[in-house]
Formats: sequence, structure tokens, C-alpha cells
Amino acid sequence: MHYNIAENKINEIINSEISDKLQKIVDFLYNNFDHYSWIGIYIAQGDHLVLGPWNGEQATVHTKIPFGKGICGSAAATGKTEIIPDVNDDTRYLSCFLSTNSEIVVPIKRDNEIIAEIDIDSNKKNAFSNEDKIFLEKIADMLKEHI
Ligand code: SME
Repeated sequence: MHYNIAENKINEIINSEISDKLQKIVDFLYNNFDHYSWIGIYIAQGDHLVLGPWNGEQATVHTKIPFGKGICGSAAATGKTEIIPDVNDDTRYLSCFLSTNSEIVVPIKRDNEIIAEIDIDSNKKNAFSNEDKIFLEKIADMLKEHI
């Protein structure tokens, strides 16, 4: 076998294992927290966020979001968690689902660089508390070495 074919194959295996792990975490959060109505992990690629593993009733059209755009892009630009109690009140909001009322976006940072984000929509207004923020920031910190 050619070394470069083997290298590509090994790279594919490494990447698939990473996305399997992320998918399991997304599924776990989706299945165990009622107020998490849609959850996705966006991966930073250059100056964009690209949607990776997700779970929810519907797919989103926002699979590639530039840094600075929407709530996701704002959190990527500032490096700070965004909690939006009512998405209808925030002009930055990029609408995905009519059912969404509130949203939390938690950046995943490694060495001060944004490498990914956890994005959660809720069908309830004001669904995300400081407890969600602390919890999800902890998860983001746990994930930073696995992305
Ligand atoms: N609402 C996000 C876009 C992603 S969807 O929620 C899945 C935003 O404003 O950036």
C-alpha cells in the first residue's frame, strides 16, 4: 500500500473517532436536559464556524457561519459565552427554527484561540441559567483537548 493512502486512511480514522466522541456528548446532552431543544458543535475553520455533530428535530441551514455574524459568530469574535433569554429581542440572531425562543453559545478555547463552540437552542424563553453557563463552560474546557 502507498504510504500516502495509508496516511489519509489513518487521518480519516482519527477524525472519525473524534467526531464519534463529540456526537455521543451531543446526544447525551440532548437526551438528558429537557430544555436543550437543539444542540450542535461548531468547529472553527479559518474565520468561519462549520457545523459538526448535532442533535435535534430538524437540521439547520446555518452550517457555515462567519466569525462576527449571528450569536455564534459574536461568541467566536469575543470569546465570551452568550446567553440570549429571548432571541426575538436580539438583532444579531440568525434564525434556524421557528420553535426557538432562547439560546446559549459557549466558546471552546485552547491557548486563547477559539477552536469550536457549543450552541444550544431552547423552545422555552429564558431557558438558560447561570448553572447551565457554568456547566457548559466546564464541558467546553473538558473538550478542548479532544478537538
Ligand atoms: N442562532 C444561531 C445560528 C445557529 S442555529 O441556532 C442552529 C446564531 O444566531 O448564530
